[in-house]
Amino acid sequence: MQAIGIPAYGAPDVLALVERPRPSTEPDHVLIRVAAAAVNPTDLMLRAGELDAYMTGFEPPFTPGMDASGEVVEAGPGVSDLAPGDHVMAFVNPFTGRGGAQAEYISVPADQVVRIPDGLPLAESAGLPMNGLTAHQALGMAALPPGATVAVTGAAGALGGYAVELARHQGLRVLADGREADRELLVRLGADVVVPRGATAEETVAAYRAAAPAGVDALIDAAVLGEPALGAVRDGGVLVTCRPYELPATRGITVHQAFVIAHPDKKAALTELAALAAGGAVTLRTAGLLPAAEAARAHARLEDGGVRGRLILTF
Ligand SMILES: NC(=O)c1ccc[n+]([C@@H]2O[C@H](COP(=O)([O-])OP(=O)(O)OC[C@H]3O[C@@H](n4cnc5c(N)ncnc54)[C@H](OP(=O)(O)O)[C@@H]3O)[C@@H](O)[C@H]2O)c1
Repeated sequence: MQAIGIPAYGAPDVLALVERPRPSTEPDHVLIRVAAAAVNPTDLMLRAGELDAYMTGFEPPFTPGMDASGEVVEAGPGVSDLAPGDHVMAFVNPFTGRGGAQAEYISVPADQVVRIPDGLPLAESAGLPMNGLTAHQALGMAALPPGATVAVTGAAGALGGYAVELARHQGLRVLADGREADRELLVRLGADVVVPRGATAEETVAAYRAAAPAGVDALIDAAVLGEPALGAVRDGGVLVTCRPYELPATRGITVHQAFVIAHPDKKAALTELAALAAGGAVTLRTAGLLPAAEAARAHARLEDGGVRGRLILTF
């Protein structure tokens, strides 16, 4: 079968379609004929060698991709809720010898796979699992009661956008930053207050502080503003980071790190996310569908910034 391969770390043009053995079905897994797989910032980091510490115990070419949609072709013994012919979306961990989602066939633990509800498009559904799960995890970590205030940085991005929609669905008051050109989008996603994005993290945080002088109850840092983001959070509030880095203890603020691979109940969360998408509370935003052979172009576009919605590779 064909898969996207990273034979050696480097620029987007290292990406190539490579031959990999078609996986066999494992117990508690389903074998999926992939229709589409999303391109996420993690894929760019993997390609550039920034995640080399995770790629131990198996050899290049590495196959990126953390989410996919497609059709179940085989269900392993032990899988009772999915069957051949089902259209599904899946979260995929690319940091294993099985490789990531960007391949014609993938074998995925069934507890990371859910059926796509009627009405959702097959290819575009590939853009939901990874970032939807991360947004779900981040809001779970923030654990806010309805009416509390949450800030979402990088809100026009894939992760930020889902965080805004889920927060709104949970009855939270949402502050979201973005460029002026993103204002309408952010309001449509559910932002109560659009905060102008500054040229620096400090400027963006100052804008949050102007909008919420006492600080927000929690902040989800999808723009990776880092330490300055603490300044937008109230004393005793919560900050959820979306990349692994340490923050200093200050003003009783609790810091959590979202890490999607560690989401404690992916199946339940994916089921909820898929239902919310089918009901319109969560939006599948697709910037473009590209043939898998154009993976390098998708990486270059995402690297340039400004992509709104996910770029999705079709197989
Ligand atoms: N921890 C986890 O498990 C996990 C899971 C998913 C994602 N992530 C991470 O979360 C981050 C967001 O992912 P994504 O897929 O949502 O990326 P994305 O779609 O590229 O969105 C990022 C957003 O942040 C904005 N942004 C970038 N720098 C900014 C700044 N300095 N100030 C304000 N806004 C800024 C971008 O705007 P422009 O496009 O206009 O620059 C864009 O709207 C990435 O770093 C990703 O690796 C982590």
